[in-house]
Amino acid sequence: MAASCASCITQFSLLLFLFISFAYAQLPSSTSRPASIVFDLDRDPLNLQYMIKINQGTPRAAIKLSLDLGGKLPWLRCQKGYMSSSYRPVKCKSPQCSVVSKPVSCVSCNETKLKTTGCHNNACRVYTSNPVTQSISSGELISDIVTVKSEDVYTIDDGYIISPDMEFSKPGPIVTPRRFTFGCATASNGLRGLAKGAAGVAGIGRSSGLSLVSQFSAAFGLSRIFALELYRSSGTIYFGGGSYVTLNYMMGVIYKRYLTYTPLLINPRRREEYFIDVRSVLIHGKTVPISKKLLSINKKTGVGGTKIDIRIPYTMLETSIYRAFVKVHTEWAKGMNVSRVASVEPFSACYSSSTIPWTTIGNPEPPTVELNFPKNVYWNIVKDLVWINDGVHCLAFVDGGSNPVTSIVIGAHQMGFIEFDISRSRVGFEGPRWIT
Ligand SMILES: *[C@@H]1O[C@H](CO)[C@@H](O)[C@H](O)[C@H]1NC(C)=O
Ligand SMILES: *[C@@H]1O[C@H](CO)[C@@H](O)[C@H](O)[C@H]1NC(C)=O
Repeated sequence: MAASCASCITQFSLLLFLFISFAYAQLPSSTSRPASIVFDLDRDPLNLQYMIKINQGTPRAAIKLSLDLGGKLPWLRCQKGYMSSSYRPVKCKSPQCSVVSKPVSCVSCNETKLKTTGCHNNACRVYTSNPVTQSISSGELISDIVTVKSEDVYTIDDGYIISPDMEFSKPGPIVTPRRFTFGCATASNGLRGLAKGAAGVAGIGRSSGLSLVSQFSAAFGLSRIFALELYRSSGTIYFGGGSYVTLNYMMGVIYKRYLTYTPLLINPRRREEYFIDVRSVLIHGKTVPISKKLLSINKKTGVGGTKIDIRIPYTMLETSIYRAFVKVHTEWAKGMNVSRVASVEPFSACYSSSTIPWTTIGNPEPPTVELNFPKNVYWNIVKDLVWINDGVHCLAFVDGGSNPVTSIVIGAHQMGFIEFDISRSRVGFEGPRWIT
């Protein structure tokens, strides 16, 4: 077991090394190295998926890809061919191809299914997966130019800057466009269930050498890190680390975000996904009774445990956890004289907003929902509620069913600012501000 895993890591490193050398070999040598790369995120107001906005190809075209934290590679639907003069098929006898499929499979344009599309004999065949419908589509691996933007450069002393004129940053260095590898999927229904306007999926899985985070790391010599800053209808994704500053408009200061870390766990059956070791859940200091078995990952089946998934709008809890969770929360509400109102689907505990004890902005917020990790690390999830309409807020957690694959799936509403550091195998989340 140990021996086979060691050899698999060696193999992976070798492939990654080949892939990096290959990527560098194609590049002009005088390119700048950014501190980190940023892209804007857009959100579909209906299905609430976040999409990364990328400029690629020649002439440059803006495309949006639905974010998938567990995806192996970025892919586009190229049913009617892919229009760009700078694109090239990736050969099946190439390092990238061995990263994406084992054994390597070569495209043969004789197959009727591929005939109608842009097809290249001996291109690398890939199978892309739609994270919503789970449908698999076959296609080719291609590469094309992607334009990237580096993060603005901030000057920060002791974590804070007072900047009445708001001139606290300089634009980051211009980054030379690079060539990136995508899957080109041919199935006509490949985009079903994805955000409106999405041309495909941006896979940022943890293990794959072709996941966007691996590709940016290889192309720019950055650490395998990405971070998400999510808002209701937009957001930002950072690759390679960053200064992670945030602006407090009311106080006219920017400050560096303070992150607390907990290790990432490996789920042997779901290697691309981001699992963390939640040991207990507290609501306003009271522990929610949860069966320990649900919180651990079954190494054989991959069932159980806690993962982070941006495609889920609100954190999903296995039914018994959900019931216990709602019970503790409504009991707290009762004790605080918060009035319960009719529930609003898909939520079950809803409250009259005017009776909820709100804290004033800038003051320390009391811990609301806390996730407890080993070594006394706590993640205070401030956003336990969601605004529904004038006068109603609901507890923003949903029932994940009685036999879910994963017991707790932390969704976008609860993620706040979060960093995934694959290099150091850890997740960083925003620590309680009143401690810094
Ligand atoms: C395509 O089909 C022809 C005839 O069936 C065959 O001779 C040829 O080898 C095939 N080419 C490939 C690349 O499979
Ligand atoms: C709730 O209301 C009761 C009765 O009016 C009062 O005695 C109690 O102090 C209130 N509790 C809180 C937390 O405000």
